[in-house]
Amino acid sequence: MPWNSCQRRLKLLVIVAILPALVMIALSELVLAQAPEPAGHPFALSHSSLTDPAIETRVEALLKQMTLDEKVGQLAQYSSGAPTGPSAGNADYPNMIARGEVGSLFNLDSARAANEYQRIAVEKSRLHIPLLFGLDVIHGYRTTFPVPLALASTWDPSIVEKAARIAAQESSAASVRWVFSPMVDIARDPRWGRMVEGAGEDPYLGSVMARAYVRGYQGKSLGDKESVAACVKHFVGYGAVEGGRDYNTAEISEHTLREIYLPPFYAAIREGSASLMSSFNTLNGLPATANPFTLTQILRKEWGFPGLVVSDWTSVGELVAHGIARDKAAAAQKAIAAGVDMDMVSDSYHPHLADLVKSGQVSQARLDEAVRDVLRVKFALGLFEDPFADESREIKGALPTERVEAARLSAERSFVLLKNSVAGSRPILPLTNESGTIALIGPFVDDARNMLGPWAGRGRPEDVVTLKTALEQRVGADKIRFAKGGELQTASDTEIQKAIETAKQADVVLLALGEEADTQSGEAASRAYLNLPGRQEELLEKVAATGKPIVLLLFSGRPLTLPWAFEHVPAIVAAWFPGIQAGPALVRVLFGDVPPSGKLVVSWPRTIGQIPVYYNALNTGRPPGNTDLTHPPQDSLEKYLSRYIDEQNSPQFPFGFGLSYSSLEYSRTHVDSVKLSASDNAIHATASASVKNTGNRAVDEIVQVYIRLTGTSMEEPVRKLVGFKRISLAPGESQTVSFPLGAEAFSLWDMQNKLRVEPSHAQFWISPDSSRGLPAELEIVE
Ligand code: NOJ
Repeated sequence: MPWNSCQRRLKLLVIVAILPALVMIALSELVLAQAPEPAGHPFALSHSSLTDPAIETRVEALLKQMTLDEKVGQLAQYSSGAPTGPSAGNADYPNMIARGEVGSLFNLDSARAANEYQRIAVEKSRLHIPLLFGLDVIHGYRTTFPVPLALASTWDPSIVEKAARIAAQESSAASVRWVFSPMVDIARDPRWGRMVEGAGEDPYLGSVMARAYVRGYQGKSLGDKESVAACVKHFVGYGAVEGGRDYNTAEISEHTLREIYLPPFYAAIREGSASLMSSFNTLNGLPATANPFTLTQILRKEWGFPGLVVSDWTSVGELVAHGIARDKAAAAQKAIAAGVDMDMVSDSYHPHLADLVKSGQVSQARLDEAVRDVLRVKFALGLFEDPFADESREIKGALPTERVEAARLSAERSFVLLKNSVAGSRPILPLTNESGTIALIGPFVDDARNMLGPWAGRGRPEDVVTLKTALEQRVGADKIRFAKGGELQTASDTEIQKAIETAKQADVVLLALGEEADTQSGEAASRAYLNLPGRQEELLEKVAATGKPIVLLLFSGRPLTLPWAFEHVPAIVAAWFPGIQAGPALVRVLFGDVPPSGKLVVSWPRTIGQIPVYYNALNTGRPPGNTDLTHPPQDSLEKYLSRYIDEQNSPQFPFGFGLSYSSLEYSRTHVDSVKLSASDNAIHATASASVKNTGNRAVDEIVQVYIRLTGTSMEEPVRKLVGFKRISLAPGESQTVSFPLGAEAFSLWDMQNKLRVEPSHAQFWISPDSSRGLPAELEIVE
């Protein structure tokens, strides 16, 4: 059903059924229940490409001409090229395409390869329906940007949108008009390797980033040749897999699902995401790929999603392993009935759907609906008019300068300065031209491949400028002493000894350590230990023992638990996997050409035993407060608290944390009202604070605003991010930063799982991270 008419029907239903019984306040609650928008981001419905009535007419006309087998064919997707999951065996694609048995292919390498398949589809198949080509374009196609966790650490949606737009231009040039991104899974557990692919632990920030990706990919219109259809994934709860073990089970209450895990999906869909991918995990006892509550009730009925739902790789067939289907036919029946339109790779729909429809186990209506969802996207993309990619648009040589610059800028803003202690008379960073000889040590200093991260689209190591190259360009090779210090996983005594000797010859040491992008981060890379692999920690400690000032650059797709380093190493930067401009971006930040401005989008645990540790937690009935805990507890007052007897509750670094090269002073938060009414549809307050740069260097600061509601029907988190702003301050400059806060900021999901504003007490903090600041307060009355 088209989005508009679906919305109209929903509203009508609500009004007819309950109007007589409801007073205005309750009605406003229901309207809100359908519109859980993050604060500060006005509702923008941009499904226009998918809801164009002219497209609907063409879809219906085509559907009428299709045989049952041709319909099933549109719902089958296969991988052709290097697989991104367990191999699905070989298929005879050219003949299948000619028979109309394939709707989509992915993992192809070039426009030429895609065009060859496309020619078969549009010239040989009976109805000439074009194929839709997909790919995992996660943080760039060839121009590789920092990994999504790093992109989110910029807290800068314009950077994300630009990266997604460039990715769209390059993907579409290669015939890829469908990208399996954004990944918006909330991740609270860094053992889960896929934390790297998302925007971290916060639903508000995650929603802002989700929208930016969709805007970038889809542009103003899906029909634009340079636009690609987004695919928001993985629906839903995948980030909550138990123990952080990939593909594992997730248990999430409906309340937490709506408060935490659903908002970024909703945001992407409101922004117009043309498609959505179901996830691998079981959610509350039912695999997400066969879950009608999430895929039909929430996605279609509550949200009115008009787009295409694709399964994850073989996740339809995996319903057999889950034990809810005895064979692939039963798996196909459950998946399509729940709401999955297209079967990615498992080859369950292709051989079984037609029989399931003939026997009545799958209704003709449901089949048609699924086919419509596929065709609608193909029409909206303009594939029927223009199915082929222009092979000359594919970049063969060097990347255009403007794209390289976008990659550099995004990397510069993604680094998070975690520590910068004084060594001698001043902090170690930024380095200066007087910093003297620099020892460049560690397996990452001249590594191109790892800079691309675990999932680099069609990124090429030869496009990467490494730290070593960039530093040589900056200070000259004669000022650098270089030692790799071994490999990531292994190092010989000789290599470690050489690194120590190299450090001794220098005035300052840059030590580049971390986890291996491909095998230790990303999909199927859950880790039970979050330390530095191989002998890297030994290397770190031995180099530190030389007494030379050290700057530790951490390359990883997640926080690493390194208590020794955080205590003993004076300067530490979380560099993530920064993409093709890793070297130049790092050098510019290390030398202070640009200030470090990234902030953490996940809480950084001290130890694995604290996981999951996240800032927007509930208070419990026995919170230990903010003070440092004694270990072990000294008396019963200290003992019977929600705490560890052997570690602090607080993380190593809180969500939102990141240092700059200057110092900042935040005034107490001010709010312009003391009392608001929960029944006021236009409920509104403005929180403000002044922020002053008290140091002597320029800063780019990400000012954050948090809320806590008490006296509510359901327990609310101790803090919830409801807005943020990036500001620049010259030394000595101060600025008043204001946040208009509307209903979204004050609302919560109640006991009936409705989003509403309740009478409550609100506290606000405008602060540099989630753990600091002095609150302002206001009352929300009836
Ligand atoms: C499995 C991954 O979970 C998903 O994110 C990806 O898009 C598909 N494979 C396709 O490669």
